[in-house]
Amino acid sequence: MKVILASDHGGINLRKEVADVLEELQIKFEDIGCECESSVDYPDYAIPAAERVADGEFDKAILICGTGIGMSISANKVKGIRAALVHDLFTAKVTREHNDSNVLCMGERVIGPGLAKEIAKTWVSTDFEAGRHERRVSKIAEYENK
Ligand code: RB5
Repeated sequence: MKVILASDHGGINLRKEVADVLEELQIKFEDIGCECESSVDYPDYAIPAAERVADGEFDKAILICGTGIGMSISANKVKGIRAALVHDLFTAKVTREHNDSNVLCMGERVIGPGLAKEIAKTWVSTDFEAGRHERRVSKIAEYENK
């Protein structure tokens, strides 16, 4: 599995914690920043990262901003992306099993690093259940392809 990791200025600290988790799990990843603590614009990170998942260069992305909301709205504009904004362990698991989400978004100003790291671990290690969920996810792709 290859993961692309990004944040805006509001998510830098949490992004570093998530990078540690990926290293611990020996998951290959590329961290595309941001490096600067001054204000940047979350779509400038969310969209390129999401495009690289949609293109098949990466399997998944983890995107972090202050709330996770800007990252999730932006990433979901990219065709083929199913970005899930997650702040608890239950939805971290179920969004992989049911939605086959390929982007995880979290907000550094919403949850603490301990929970965020557990969410990242759960999300990267849970498989899509397919079955009846396949049909539902396909309907999203059908709509995108119209
Ligand atoms: C940046 O101040 C903040 O708006 C951003 O990190 C994010 O929360 C947007 O959704």
